Amino acid sequence: MTIQKAPAAAPAATETAPALRVRDLVVRYGRGRRAAAEPAVNGVTFDIASGETVGLVGESGSGKTTIGKAILGLQRVTEGSVQYRGRDITHASLGERRDLGGELRAVFQDPYSSFNPRRTIGASLIEPLRLRGVSRADAVGRARSMLERVGLPADAVDRYPRQFSGGQRQRIAVARALICDPSLVVCDEAVSALDLSTQAQVLNLLADLRDERGLSYLFIAHDIAVVRFLAQRVLVLYRGQVMESGPAAGVTDAPKHPYTQALTAASPVPRPTEQAERRARREVLVVGGASAAAPTSVGCPYAARCPLATELCRTERPALRPIDDRLVACHYAS
Ligand SMILES: Nc1ncnc2c1ncn2[C@@H]1O[C@H](COP(=O)(O)OP(=O)(O)OP(=O)(O)O)[C@@H](O)[C@H]1O
Ligand code: SF4
Ligand SMILES: [Mg+2]
Repeated sequence: MTIQKAPAAAPAATETAPALRVRDLVVRYGRGRRAAAEPAVNGVTFDIASGETVGLVGESGSGKTTIGKAILGLQRVTEGSVQYRGRDITHASLGERRDLGGELRAVFQDPYSSFNPRRTIGASLIEPLRLRGVSRADAVGRARSMLERVGLPADAVDRYPRQFSGGQRQRIAVARALICDPSLVVCDEAVSALDLSTQAQVLNLLADLRDERGLSYLFIAHDIAVVRFLAQRVLVLYRGQVMESGPAAGVTDAPKHPYTQALTAASPVPRPTEQAERRARREVLVVGGASAAAPTSVGCPYAARCPLATELCRTERPALRPIDDRLVACHYAS
């Protein structure tokens, strides 16, 4: 991406409980005899501080959306826990979540499918406020000013989703997520469907709103460059497990895990020579070339694709261990 990096908000130092605390999260799709052989998320632990953006990256199927859904209460948690501002919400119903006060909200990739085409933007925006007992007049007033805040005219309240472009609809989705004053927003591939310049505008909008309101984001994207733009910390997922986590700049600029190295080598860059060098490195690191590699029940989950794999890697699972400023799950990372 050629966009300029937005200033990152410093996490508040005074918080006692983080905005979000996820511990040993396991999500397995299906139940009983229909249970999936491999959990989609397998023992993931992380915190998000107040005002902090944590990025989740990993190739398709690595479990990013499943983690987002488990946090939002849209997917049953098999094991582990999710705490929101100190309260256990692991198995909280959607109704209980509504009563949290400053709840969790989400922005997804395709807002068109989540807006009712027969309802005006205003009707969609005021709905969560009305559910909380806000009067109709006040709710419409808040919808109009929220639309202006995301760069749209206030009279967009009277129009329908089809009357907006993809980028405008994504702004409306941001307005809908923020209208209830959440303190944590899960953004799942929120800019992935947009062209580069619209992507940059929406990313800047998200960064400004975060800084203005002290928001926390769980920012999910398959493109590590997009995550690097917004996140202060990043978690790299492979087959539902964290391979590497730490400061976004360090992890993306100097990755220590072979899988993160392959991912960053696959991320597009503007300069053709650098891109060619990366392509050569990627070929060595076989990223994407063996996505069907069978998971191993013992050993490193990445062993079947890793050019550095040894017998130790195939027989002993590497623990996530601290190396410098981050955690890395690799026997040989240093
Ligand atoms: N509803 C479901 N039922 C069964 N398996 C599912 C379901 N949703 C996801 N999975 C599986 O769980 C794993 C993780 O999927 P998930 O959608 O979380 O990945 P992702 O990292 O978000 O991928 P993408 O980048 O493609 O969005 C995949 O193996 C996927 O096939
Ligand atoms: S533990 Fe072994 S197989 Fe796994 S990433 Fe490290 S070197 Fe590769
Ligand atoms: Mg996904």
